[in-house]
Parts: sequence; structure tokens; C-alpha cells
Amino acid sequence: MKGRESGMPEETTWSSFFDASAAMDKLWPAAHGDVVELGCGYGTFTLVAARRTRGIVTALDIDPDMVAHVRCKAEELGIANIRAVERDFIESDFGVAPGSQSHVMIYNLLHIEEPVALLRKAFTALDREGTLSVMHWRSDIPTPRGPPLAIRPTPEQCIEWLRQAGFTSIESVHLGDCCPFHYGVIAKGRGLSAIKG
Ligand SMILES: C[S@@+](CC[C@H](N)C(=O)[O-])C[C@H]1O[C@@H](n2cnc3c(N)ncnc32)[C@H](O)[C@@H]1O
Repeated sequence: MKGRESGMPEETTWSSFFDASAAMDKLWPAAHGDVVELGCGYGTFTLVAARRTRGIVTALDIDPDMVAHVRCKAEELGIANIRAVERDFIESDFGVAPGSQSHVMIYNLLHIEEPVALLRKAFTALDREGTLSVMHWRSDIPTPRGPPLAIRPTPEQCIEWLRQAGFTSIESVHLGDCCPFHYGVIAKGRGLSAIKG
């Protein structure tokens, strides 16, 4: 099931909203290991993530055109560590082993119908040191796109959902200098509780 309001404009318009590289520096500072990106779209952030790690970036999207686009771009740029996969991550799992991922990226997507269920799956996918990053459209200023305000989560809402899904050490990240219409949130997954348990 495709998440509600998850369509995209054409690629140059979409990519003009972000400095993807600067955003990832803030959202995933300790780059290493395997990564899952949920709803990769045009690969705006996938390509940046792949250049930051020697691990595999599993880029999931329900739209076969987006998956083909990301594969094609990776090939053109000679980036070999992207695994773009057509997969519905709402109806199924992420297709990675539990506890195997260093990072999960959820960008411009958390306005889906059941965010906590998705975040629980992300929690399960992460390794002990794993982190998750969320990026979403701000609702405190006018933005050129984004889901309707009635379903657009605030940072506080994302933080609450992350807590409910079991994440710890959750922090807001200011992205105003690189993505003026967006905010970020980062969270640790299994972390200390898994080590202690
Ligand atoms: C608004 S776009 C964001 C793309 C990318 N995360 C970014 O920020 O550049 C959301 C993407 O999620 C994909 N998507 C929506 N629901 C999905 C689902 N259930 N499973 C996999 N992909 C999904 C859409 O096809 C679309 O490419």
C-alpha cells in the first residue's frame, strides 16, 4: 500500500529543496555499515548515503520507476553499493536481517497512516549501535510542497512516535541552513538496552 500523499514533483524541482550532502552530515554523522532507506524516490539521499559508507545501501520503493531510476543513476555514477529494491515496506518487512543495519533513513514519508508500526520495524532492523534519521517538511512556515498540514507531523510528534517504537536518545536536528523547509530528528535504536539485556 503506497503511503498517503507520497507522490513527487519532477526531479529537478524536488532536489532544489535540499542540500542532501549537508543534511546527511547532520543526520548521519557516524557513517559506516549497512543502511536501509524507506521510500528512496529519485535517490536524492540514497546516492549521498552510498558515498558515505562502504556498506550496502538498501533503497526500497514501491514505485518500479523510482527503483529503475535509482539503479540507473548508481550505474551511471559508478556507485556499486546501492541495492535498489521494489518493495512495499508497509505490507511487508524491509528484506534485511534483524539487527543488521547501521542506519535507517525515513525522509519525507512519516505522514503515512501507521508511523509507529513502521518505526518498530526500523527498530528491529538496526544493530546495537544503529541510528535512525527522519526528515520532514516543516509546518511552522509556508513550504513549497509537503503533505497537508492536517497530516504533517511536527518534530515533537515524530519524537513521541519514536519513543513509542522503543527508540532512545532522540534529538531534534536543525536543518535550516541546508534544507530551509525541513527539520530532522535522529534516534538511537537498540543501543544500551540491548547491550545491558
Ligand atoms: C515523498 S517521496 C520521498 C522520497 C525520498 N525519501 C526523498 O525524500 O527524496 C516518498 C516515496 O516513498 C515511496 N513509497 C510510498 N509508500 C511506500 C511503500 N508502502 N513502500 C515503499 N515505498 C513507498 C513513494 O513511491 C515515493 O517514492
